[in-house]
Amino acid sequence: MLSYRWILLLSVVVVVTVAAELPHASTTFKTLTGNAPLVIARGGFSGLFPDSSQFAFGFALSATSSDTSLWCDVQLTKDGVGICLRDVLMQNGTTISKVYPGAKQTYRINGVRKTGWFPVDYNMSSLSNALFYRTDKFDFCNFRIFSVTGFMSFVKPSSLWLNVEHDVFYTEHGLNMTNYILSVQKLGFVKYISSPELRFLQKLSGGINHKVKLVFRFLDKAVSDPSTNKTYDSMLSDLAFIKTIASGIMVPKSYIWPVTSDNYIQLPTEIVKDAHDAGLEIYASDFSNDGIFPYNYSYDPLEEYLPFVSNGGFSVDGVLTDHPLTASEAIGNILIISHNGASGDYPDCTDLAYEKAVTDGADVIDCSIEMTKDGIPICTSSINLYDSTDVQNSKFSSLVSVVPEIQTKPGIFTFNLTWDEISTLRPKISHPYYDFVRNPRYANQGKLFKLSDFLTYAKNKDLSGIMIIIKNAAFMAKSLGFDVVDLVTTALSNAGYNNMDPTTKNNKEIMIQSKDSAVLVELKQRLTQCKLVYSLPLKVGDVSDSSVADIKKFADAVIVDRESVFAESKGFILRKSKVVEDVQAAGLAVYVEVFRNEYVSPPVDFLADETVEINSYVQMVHVDGFITDFPKTVRRYKMNTCTRLGDGTSTSMKLVPIGNLAQLLDADCTGGMPPALAPMPVLNSSDVIEPPLPAAEPKSAGSSGTNACDVLAPPPLFSREYVLTMVTLLLLLLL
Ligand SMILES: *[C@@H]1O[C@H](CO)[C@@H](O)[C@H](O)[C@H]1NC(C)=O
Ligand SMILES: *[C@@H]1O[C@H](CO)[C@@H](O)[C@H](O)[C@H]1NC(C)=O
Ligand SMILES: *[C@@H]1O[C@H](CO)[C@@H](O)[C@H](O)[C@H]1NC(C)=O
Ligand SMILES: *[C@@H]1O[C@H](CO)[C@@H](O)[C@H](O)[C@H]1NC(C)=O
Ligand SMILES: *[C@@H]1O[C@H](CO)[C@@H](O)[C@H](O)[C@H]1NC(C)=O
Ligand SMILES: *[C@@H]1O[C@H](CO)[C@@H](O)[C@H](O)[C@H]1NC(C)=O
Ligand SMILES: *[C@@H]1O[C@H](CO)[C@@H](O)[C@H](O)[C@H]1NC(C)=O
Repeated sequence: MLSYRWILLLSVVVVVTVAAELPHASTTFKTLTGNAPLVIARGGFSGLFPDSSQFAFGFALSATSSDTSLWCDVQLTKDGVGICLRDVLMQNGTTISKVYPGAKQTYRINGVRKTGWFPVDYNMSSLSNALFYRTDKFDFCNFRIFSVTGFMSFVKPSSLWLNVEHDVFYTEHGLNMTNYILSVQKLGFVKYISSPELRFLQKLSGGINHKVKLVFRFLDKAVSDPSTNKTYDSMLSDLAFIKTIASGIMVPKSYIWPVTSDNYIQLPTEIVKDAHDAGLEIYASDFSNDGIFPYNYSYDPLEEYLPFVSNGGFSVDGVLTDHPLTASEAIGNILIISHNGASGDYPDCTDLAYEKAVTDGADVIDCSIEMTKDGIPICTSSINLYDSTDVQNSKFSSLVSVVPEIQTKPGIFTFNLTWDEISTLRPKISHPYYDFVRNPRYANQGKLFKLSDFLTYAKNKDLSGIMIIIKNAAFMAKSLGFDVVDLVTTALSNAGYNNMDPTTKNNKEIMIQSKDSAVLVELKQRLTQCKLVYSLPLKVGDVSDSSVADIKKFADAVIVDRESVFAESKGFILRKSKVVEDVQAAGLAVYVEVFRNEYVSPPVDFLADETVEINSYVQMVHVDGFITDFPKTVRRYKMNTCTRLGDGTSTSMKLVPIGNLAQLLDADCTGGMPPALAPMPVLNSSDVIEPPLPAAEPKSAGSSGTNACDVLAPPPLFSREYVLTMVTLLLLLLL
């Protein structure tokens, strides 16, 4: 019976696995280590299944990202066996009161008398009839209580978190928790041990494997730690001492974002900073989706995590939750970033292209800045109006010149016309692949945007952010007298981006991208909260450690081109580089550009199917974001469960073996082999470091000096509908 259900469960959750895995990629977090916050599944997926039951653990393991840590509240039986059970009062969560109706006991726990059924009164074998429950839906499921070791061998978690609430109590009952924990940690799996009793951690600290992290758990502020008799509130001021014993602390979430008595969120405390300053990791506890939420979160559970993991100017190092999937959603997110708007469908950087990007589900829309003659920053894909407008056929067609700093060929440049003049031009749709005309009926439709138009437009759209791209800044300063960095920050603050309400959905993450490190260095000095994105040179074969270290000094994220990821020759992939991996290892997010649907865009290996290419970048490369002319394609991939099926469920999304096709040519098709690649250059520090930007003269518009980037990002979009459907299906299957 049980095993039959178990098989059903696994066959269903395998689908969810990949879904949840998808958004899991490294991004920049302000955690102590810079790594993504840890998701800790309390008693497994205890929001759905009985806490600490095999279904709860199994489901958490398969339905959330692979590095989710499984939390077991360790209790000891009379015969010294550790079991995973949330509450020392066994009637809370099990059927013990029905199995041993007359066996109630009363004991003091931390000085308080408690009546009920306690593990210390039962040996392991006599507990075999007691079952778990959480919701009445699962009352009749045959869940047995797990011993810690039985659980380890059954579930084999990659990361196990043992929480010991009551060492003092067990000691009083003649049981040795220290000894027990020391013996199970020898079996591996255990990555964290937490306790609200500081002396217990102290006892462990001598004998424990140094890789196991000890975490001191704070409970309600007014309550005392029975091992020290100090209130948790008073222990807060002694983080330095805690650091001598533990490597981290765990606090109830209200320690970080306090809540008013009528359940609204207040401004955050300094505790995350204090803990990090003391060298301690800090984890937040008490998350679940089925509680009464502070009203600021509109009952959206995902919304509640964001101020803890990314939005609030800090990141906790992990969250303890009954619903780990939601936490994974909050932490991982593959960004869909438009490339000149939805430029595959409408002319670059026009109102139509942006509107399409928004409706197609881009998370971030982009504006690439160039300057007009009258000093107005505009959004355009090219400084040369030939490329993006019909200027050749306009009355300005004679304004041709050669500006060697920009290009050797003649052109009509944005800085040769005023905004009024440019706004009379008709835009021109891009077509990066000669034979592939894009959307001809709309090839010249749409309005061009100034940066200020773009900012106003984006402000109230459901986007997680905007990306502003700064090019040619040194030229603009030296030859044209425009301080572009200054103009961008002024435009942001004029458009009200520096005082957006961080708790509303309208706030946006502002990313500023440049391939000129000098621009980012200058921005770093001015706007500490903006996300600075460095665009690597095209086709790098590798990145040196020192270059990544240099980039890390001024950037939060990096853009690489597709050919730096999969080196190709004549459209055949020859190999995959380590560029993304190496950059991510430094804690920088990586976005890859430019993804396009035309079948000539993906290498032959991706079978003329853009979705295959996207899937490969998600599953093989673990990119943090896609920059695309066609946001809809990436959005559909993200939303569509069928395209995310992993092994065993469908062959449609099997990963393509990289480089095999080229080898096939090599072996069997004499002469058809793609030419060997010249070695691709390694990115060095010298490529990254630039002299500071020249001063702009004459000085342009006054500096705003405001911190326009100090705003917070809204939640990622994620297919929770899908997960809900799966869970419903699962319930139907089980009942
Ligand atoms: C179970 O324990 C929790 C906290 O430990 C408590 O809030 C809850 O009321 C208890 N439930 C039952 C049924 O005893
Ligand atoms: C477990 O407890 C039961 C009842 O108290 C007792 O009969 C049995 O011998 C115990 N078993 C072990 C292995 O201690
Ligand atoms: C508990 O076990 C630990 C480790 O094995 C040992 O050092 C300690 O003395 C034991 N405590 C008691 C009260 O027996
Ligand atoms: C804490 O207080 C209780 C009750 O006053 C006392 O029995 C116990 O020894 C104290 N523990 C410590 C570590 O001071
Ligand atoms: C939560 O909402 C209340 C009521 O609208 C508001 O006063 C408070 O500032 C909000 N909390 C935060 C952190 O913005
Ligand atoms: C365009 O602007 C550049 C820089 O100011 C200038 O050198 C060039 O002569 C201008 N071209 C025309 C046709 O005005
Ligand atoms: C990186 O540095 C090495 C040694 O200094 C040099 O040989 C190589 O050409 C450099 N690569 C680039 C891309 O500058």
